[in-house]
Amino acid sequence: MRVVKVRLGNNGYNIHIGSGLLTQAARRLRENGLADKLVIITNPVVEGLYGNALKKKLAEEGFTANILQVPDGEEQKSLEVAARLYNELTGLYAERTTPILALGGGVIGDLTGFVAATYLRGVPLVQIPTTLLAQVDSSIGGKVAVNHGQLKNKIGAFYQPRLVISDITTLRTLPTREFTNGLAEVIKYAVIGDKEFFTYLEDNLDQIKSLDEGVLEGIVYKSSRIKAKIVEKDEKDLGLRGILNYGHTVGHAIETVSDFNVQHGEAVAIGMLAAARISNRLDILDKNEVTRLKDIIARTGLPTEIPSLQLEKLIQAMKHDKKVLQGKPRFILPKTIGNVFITDEVSLSQVEKALVD
Ligand code: NAD
Ligand code: GLY
Repeated sequence: MRVVKVRLGNNGYNIHIGSGLLTQAARRLRENGLADKLVIITNPVVEGLYGNALKKKLAEEGFTANILQVPDGEEQKSLEVAARLYNELTGLYAERTTPILALGGGVIGDLTGFVAATYLRGVPLVQIPTTLLAQVDSSIGGKVAVNHGQLKNKIGAFYQPRLVISDITTLRTLPTREFTNGLAEVIKYAVIGDKEFFTYLEDNLDQIKSLDEGVLEGIVYKSSRIKAKIVEKDEKDLGLRGILNYGHTVGHAIETVSDFNVQHGEAVAIGMLAAARISNRLDILDKNEVTRLKDIIARTGLPTEIPSLQLEKLIQAMKHDKKVLQGKPRFILPKTIGNVFITDEVSLSQVEKALVD
């Protein structure tokens, strides 16, 4: 097991990363002084795979755990679902000291985090992420939110968990497409913050894809550490934390235009490569580095190109985006692999060229 410390003063916490950690959850909760009557929020898929076993194990260790279930899917991140959970928590007589455990992917993590931040003005939150994306990204850093109408993550807070438990073994049951999507964020961390990590990913991609738990523990650890360091410097996302959006400017447009048929990680992969190509065209990033990025993305099984049919629509969508009309899309561009910068000086025509490169 490895531990990443997130140093945020009184709001600091540990991220525990390793195989089989769900079975040790009781010990971790006790170490953190959390009360022994608690609530687990999860979805039916994850409840069946891990929730019931976790509840049973906790009971053996003297905890009383109630499970609240939310259906699977992004649309559950809503104020309506949060309101239902408030009612259910009230029905369970949950108090200020009642810990809420978010067991699942980023949807469960964001929704549960939002409920924990707001119920009784805040109760202890424990993130137990079970997707690769949630382990390396959404469980870390305290961004919790629900969607509002068509607006994603519009209602939310910065609310740090008391503890994160990333059990690598849970990744074994993840559908391949979800796992591959999470890999896009892992590659993102290497490009924004650690050249050696990028080389490690190139050298170990086969073991990663075959779910070698030792290697997976290593990549979740490295990714979590890179994110933690960024969050420590800019908890409230006022500057540096923006580099976590590498690949997301074009990525978000692709998700929207494809009506979310291109998944987040897939869109980010195309977006990361587009940003690298823009940087190369600006004579900043070496062509060889662009090729390395393209190769590793292709080897993961993530797309490197947008389907040609979508190019026209994508450029139209970006043209109609208010921020772009003002001539200021925000880009994160790599200078080298391992080092990026934020710029508002990329034009739409440069984006278009990078997408057909
Ligand atoms: P998700 O939560 O929808 O999970 C993906 C699918 O995997 C779901 O069907 C889920 O039921 C299933 N699943 C989860 N764990 C499993 C397991 N171990 N085995 C089998 N199936 C499992 O999607 P996600 O990609 O984890 O998260 C996406 C969400 O995360 C989005 O809502 C996004 O906005 C949010 N997000 C938040 C942050 C943040 O900083 N808060 C960062 C990135 C993304
Ligand atoms: N996922 C972006 C952030 O945490 O800031």
